[in-house]
Amino acid sequence: MKIVETCAEMAALCRTVQRPLGLVPTMGALHDGHIALVRRARADSETMAASIFVNPSQFGPNEDFATYPRSFERDLHLLEENGADLVFAPPPEEVYPDGFDTWIEPGSVAQGMEGSARPGHFRGVVTVVAKLFTITRPDRAYFGQKDGQQVAVIRKLNDDLNLGVDVVVMPTIREPDGLALSSRNAYLTPDERETAPAVYRALCAAEDVWRRGERDADRIRRAANNILGREALIHAVDYISIVDADTMQPVGTIPVGGRVMIAIAVRLGSVRLIDNVVLS
Ligand code: PAF
Repeated sequence: MKIVETCAEMAALCRTVQRPLGLVPTMGALHDGHIALVRRARADSETMAASIFVNPSQFGPNEDFATYPRSFERDLHLLEENGADLVFAPPPEEVYPDGFDTWIEPGSVAQGMEGSARPGHFRGVVTVVAKLFTITRPDRAYFGQKDGQQVAVIRKLNDDLNLGVDVVVMPTIREPDGLALSSRNAYLTPDERETAPAVYRALCAAEDVWRRGERDADRIRRAANNILGREALIHAVDYISIVDADTMQPVGTIPVGGRVMIAIAVRLGSVRLIDNVVLS
């Protein structure tokens, strides 16, 4: 497994490797959700590359960039064990050198939910993903459904800018009690960890109401809110949104045959948890 730190070397290497090339972009602190992406990329590709880059531009000024979990040596070990050929792990100044001044501004798909709660977040995500795609020119890139809005934003980036990458989305990996795996789960105290699966229970309650025939988004939302409302440690529900799974625009009535996502973000202690399910 080769570890590469510069954009120029990564770009040069990626031009010579055997195709198809699969890319798994990450911010490190790898968990089983990432490993599922890595294994699928390994199975699909002649050459499998992962990136580890905690992207400063997708964190707001009061967010956790400085304390975001980092476990570089462990990540390398996991990637090697799971068959990665290349790891791109640039320092920040390699991705954003002095004078860097070009950004990609995503449109309406990035405006609600995480886009409202974290201004500038998706601008940072799409800019770095566009850079990673341009440097590595992968045939396929792998992302987790856990970050459902991110997936929609990246698909739109890829389509609108004709980046030509096959974007592969893998299901959310969960703990046995339903909590979606996330690097930020490491921040949860034992009490918060016990409360955290309520987010998935709320999503399941909403999905259940829909399965029983309810199509009104407000009533479906209420079913989720009832579950979250019972949890004293959840001190804020940022949103329970019911949106078209591709455009991320809110839906009032769930259309027959449409792909709709129910997404939740809550604050639990100092941790912000997000999760979603897609109804189809
Ligand atoms: O999902 C992530 O880990 C990040 O947002 C990504 C896609 C690697 C961009 O920094």
